[in-house]
Amino acid sequence: MFRSPSSMDDHFVLVPRRRHAAGALVFLVAVFGANVGRAQEKSAASPPATGTAQTKPADTKPADYMGSDTCQTCHEDLFKAFQKNQHHLLETDKRYKRTGQACESCHGPASKHEESMNAADIRNPAKLRPAETDHLCLTCHLNGTTHVGRINGSHAKNQVSCIGCHSIHKNGPEGVVARRTADINQQCAKCHTAVWASFQRPFKHRLPEGAMSCVDCHNPHGSVLPRSIQTANANEPGCFKCHGDKRGPFTYEHAPVRLEGCRACHEPHGSANPRMLTRAQVRLVCLECHANLPQPTPPANGTLATVPPAFHDLRSPRFQNCTVCHHEVHGSYVDRDFLR
Ligand code: HEC
Ligand code: HEC
Ligand code: HEC
Ligand code: HEC
Ligand code: HEC
Ligand code: HEC
Ligand code: HEC
Ligand code: HEC
Ligand code: HEC
Ligand code: HEC
Repeated sequence: MFRSPSSMDDHFVLVPRRRHAAGALVFLVAVFGANVGRAQEKSAASPPATGTAQTKPADTKPADYMGSDTCQTCHEDLFKAFQKNQHHLLETDKRYKRTGQACESCHGPASKHEESMNAADIRNPAKLRPAETDHLCLTCHLNGTTHVGRINGSHAKNQVSCIGCHSIHKNGPEGVVARRTADINQQCAKCHTAVWASFQRPFKHRLPEGAMSCVDCHNPHGSVLPRSIQTANANEPGCFKCHGDKRGPFTYEHAPVRLEGCRACHEPHGSANPRMLTRAQVRLVCLECHANLPQPTPPANGTLATVPPAFHDLRSPRFQNCTVCHHEVHGSYVDRDFLR
């Protein structure tokens, strides 16, 4: 096989380094014999036999921990900012068994990096796969008292790792954790632009005003309820934290309130319709289920709900605003027809 001189040169450059590294090539050369052509030697010596296996011992010699102070020489700004970081506690509190090594508790032992000043020799969580980053954070945050320590949210399942929302090296609202409602909303809106747009509709929860935030209704770390809905009083939807009067238990329940949830009739993010209803008029909301019209896709269990009795003349304006009479539409303690 013909080799151009330049590729031979490349080859020669590599040889001494390999020898130096592991002395592995000496062994190889012995096996293949001195009469083996250079070209052959190269192909045998390239992957994977020597490339990985033989040079490995030298490359994987574990790096050592150097201590956080050593980082300061080259990463002055980050080091200073870190003094105000929640994670600075690692530096001082013996319980975490990381005293003096806070930086390396996330970045791993740094002796090689400090020698080479090469980015490739240090772990940067931003360059790991999202699942790996999550696991890194969870080495300490596992099984906390909140959902934080369990990766059951759709963020974790959709490649949004902890650092999608928590910027370890920034201080302030954009930093380790956003706490003010407006800051949280801004953070979520960054990715959920369509959701944020629905909060600009005329009837909405007052998120744009900063009176509430996404985490009043959603747990960004996951939840036992679908759509990461925040829970209140054990496993109830978080809506009841503020709208307790809708909880019941009612003597006469309106089936969809409990079974399908608030979203059967409301758009909780915001709606063009008063009361954040799904339809422009109340009766259209009701008639979606309470109508004897033939349905395009009949529900599996037969009819959806009872049909209004005949005296309901739906052409008459008097009967169009159903909730004028069916006042307790979320459930009633006294009337099975929710009239009071
Ligand atoms: C002797 C100087 C020096 C010391 C000491 C040093 N670093 Fe660095 N570090 C650098 C340089 C230079 C870069 C930038 C490399 C580049 O951009 O190619 C860097 C980059 C990094 C990066 C980014 C890597 C990436 O993938 O972008 C991390 C993380 C890091 N250092 C952590 C640390 C930690 C933690 C310590 C202390 C344990 C430390 N460094 C100590 C010089 C140093
Ligand atoms: C709690 C974990 C954690 C600790 C503790 C920590 N870092 Fe980091 N560091 C990160 C993460 C995560 C990133 C990726 C930056 C990002 O996108 O948020 C990072 C990025 C960096 C970078 C790259 C900077 C850049 O702008 O890309 C350097 C340098 C660095 N860290 C140095 C340090 C030093 C020095 C310390 C100690 C004073 C330290 N880190 C402590 C998690 C940590
Ligand atoms: C070596 C252990 C350790 C690792 C690794 C770690 N943390 Fe922490 N974290 C802590 C400690 C300790 C605190 C401070 C707890 C306290 O204030 O009670 C903390 C605090 C926090 C807080 C602030 C909590 C609050 O209530 O203010 C957030 C957010 C956080 N960590 C996120 C992360 C993320 C994201 C990662 C991964 C990049 C990470 N942590 C990696 C130990 C760790
Ligand atoms: C979608 C954004 C998002 C992701 C992803 C995320 N967090 Fe959070 N995290 C938040 C918000 C927002 C808060 C503040 C919640 C509040 O104030 O109720 C928070 C709070 C925290 C806290 C403070 C304690 C608490 O329960 O309030 C810790 C610790 C924390 N997160 C760690 C993590 C870890 C570890 C991961 C990855 C496994 C992670 N977070 C992923 C948004 C996120
Ligand atoms: C008043 C409570 C409430 C607030 C505040 C709220 N959500 Fe929701 N969100 C819900 C409910 C309820 C659902 C639907 C749950 C279901 O379908 O079971 C939902 C669904 C979602 C979904 C799933 C997609 C969809 O439209 O069904 C995303 C994403 C979402 N919300 C993001 C956000 C973001 C981002 C914010 C803050 C800007 C926010 N939510 C604020 C109650 C709320
Ligand atoms: C870095 C981008 C990013 C940020 C920041 C972010 N999300 Fe998400 N979120 C996603 C992605 C990606 C998905 C999965 C795809 C989808 O369902 O839209 C998702 C899904 C969701 C869902 C649907 C949950 C489900 O189980 O279907 C909710 C609710 C949600 N996010 C709420 C929030 C809240 C609240 C915040 C702010 C604390 C937030 N997100 C911040 C990217 C982000
Ligand atoms: C943190 C408290 C809080 C939570 C949680 C909450 N809400 Fe609300 N909700 C309010 C407040 C306050 C108003 C009054 C809005 C206004 O006028 O600014 C309101 C108004 C409403 C309205 C419209 C009332 C009207 O008169 O127009 C509906 C419908 C509603 N919420 C449904 C829900 C649903 C569904 C959920 C759960 C997915 C929910 N809310 C969760 C506080 C909350
Ligand atoms: C079967 C449809 C339906 C369901 C399901 C439903 N609502 Fe309503 N809701 C309505 C209608 C219709 C109105 C408007 C009443 C009116 O016109 O006075 C309303 C009004 C409201 C109001 C404002 C007026 C008031 O009574 O306080 C709130 C708050 C509210 N709903 C919260 C909720 C919550 C929280 C849930 C879930 C637990 C829920 N709704 C489930 C139909 C429904
Ligand atoms: C998502 C479907 C759905 C919507 C929307 C809905 N309902 Fe219902 N409703 C039901 C179901 C299911 C029942 C239980 C029927 C049964 O027990 O046979 C019910 C029961 C009732 C009853 C009691 C009837 C009985 O047989 O006891 C009344 C009255 C009623 N609904 C009025 C309304 C009004 C008024 C609205 C509009 C504000 C409305 N419903 C919206 C599904 C719905
Ligand atoms: C003027 C008052 C009034 C209005 C407006 C009204 N209803 Fe009724 N509705 C009643 C009364 C009263 C009953 C109870 C009849 C009975 O007990 O025989 C009733 C009963 C019902 C029932 C229960 C039937 C059953 O078999 O138990 C349903 C379903 C119903 N209405 C739906 C609606 C819908 C949907 C609207 C709006 C399009 C509406 N109603 C508007 C007064 C009203």
